[in-house]
Amino acid sequence: MFNDLSSPASLVASRRSAKPRDLVAPGPDAAQLRRILAAAMRVPDHGKLAPWRLVVIGADRRDAFAALLKQCYRADKPDAAPRELEALDQFAHQAPVLVALLSTPAPASAIPLWEQELSAGAAGMMLLTAAHAEGFAGGWLTGWPSYGPGVAEGLGHPGARIAGYFFLGTPARPLEERPRPDYDAIVSHF
Ligand SMILES: Cc1cc2nc3c(=O)[nH]c(=O)nc-3n(C[C@H](O)[C@H](O)[C@H](O)COP(=O)(O)O)c2cc1C
Repeated sequence: MFNDLSSPASLVASRRSAKPRDLVAPGPDAAQLRRILAAAMRVPDHGKLAPWRLVVIGADRRDAFAALLKQCYRADKPDAAPRELEALDQFAHQAPVLVALLSTPAPASAIPLWEQELSAGAAGMMLLTAAHAEGFAGGWLTGWPSYGPGVAEGLGHPGARIAGYFFLGTPARPLEERPRPDYDAIVSHF
């Protein structure tokens, strides 16, 4: 069981990530996705700047997204091997639902950049938690598709940083748990 929805506490405690390549249909439908993304916007945000944007890359736009990644990659690495481009193609086509989260801080704001970027991270975590609450699993990936020059612009947000790609769907196989940090190594009391 990858999501224990029996109580709010067990819901949060049972969340874990899926490998995007292992996510299959069903994914969130339009109404579920709207609730997930609306939840992602309900995050602490000093100054009420909403310093993040969400770009839904629909099923009918995966080929176009793959083409964008490959075009930017070739421009960045003219000697790219075919297998590198194939990996980008596979990246773009994983999971039934794909959303890009971008960090779009207001540079002139009195709110420190760090705080605006933390808010983007919170939006990502909220997105995953909300997807879990809707009965789906998610995976947060970055890599070259996040950091490659030109990709954010191609997604409609020049100058933004891509906080990551959120792949949502249903796990094709039971999710593996991973080792979690030792509680006492992390938590101390002042
Ligand atoms: C900002 C960020 C970027 C990440 N990028 C990748 C990535 O590109 N590839 C990868 O395998 N895991 C990446 N991860 C790790 C996974 O999303 C996830 O943390 C890990 O699989 C375990 O997830 P869980 O603790 O939610 O179960 C990233 C995590 C974060 C927070």
